[in-house]
Amino acid sequence: MVKAVYPGTFDPITHGHSDLIGRACRLFEEVKVAIAISPSKKPLFPVEERVALAREVLAEHGNVTVCSFHCLLADFCRKERAQVILRGLRAVSDFEYEFQLAGMNRRLVPEVETLFLTPAENFSYISSSLIKEIAGLGGDVSEFVHPVVQTALIEKLGRP
Ligand code: COA
Repeated sequence: MVKAVYPGTFDPITHGHSDLIGRACRLFEEVKVAIAISPSKKPLFPVEERVALAREVLAEHGNVTVCSFHCLLADFCRKERAQVILRGLRAVSDFEYEFQLAGMNRRLVPEVETLFLTPAENFSYISSSLIKEIAGLGGDVSEFVHPVVQTALIEKLGRP
């Protein structure tokens, strides 16, 4: 039984995240999507809303659960008895930060391995910030996010 924790801010969850989770749930018995409060990123959606959106989007996957966490990722993984931290690599530009994060987490929780997956090519340029910017300016994000997320973005940002 391998349990993977997929941490992130998910503000909001995009097709890029879902693509990665779809791949992960074929590889691991259990995938836990762990949504960080990430106050320094000043998220648009409060963490409870990010959790609710991710739960709705990921409902089809029987072995995926979603929760928030408010502590160190290393402590969360220990508490969850996870063996794997899963992260996505979209482009070379992600690498430096991910390398640093993986190194620090290894130091903090040596028994947990960080593994990387790449999303499908057509999602490699998505980021939650870009989605929020496009939606905020009235652009169509239906290609990049689930309809419930699109609706939530319109409710939050309004229609220009
Ligand atoms: N598809 C689409 N977008 C993706 C993606 C994918 N597969 N993978 C990452 N992204 C995007 C995200 O949307 C996000 O975009 P944004 O910056 O525009 O919002 C960006 O890439 C990276 O964000 P995310 O994956 O959410 O990671 P993060 O850098 O916000 O979160 C945590 C990093 C939460 C894992 C880290 O801060 C953490 O562990 N926090 C807990 C506290 C802790 O333990 N700190 C010490 C760490 S050693």
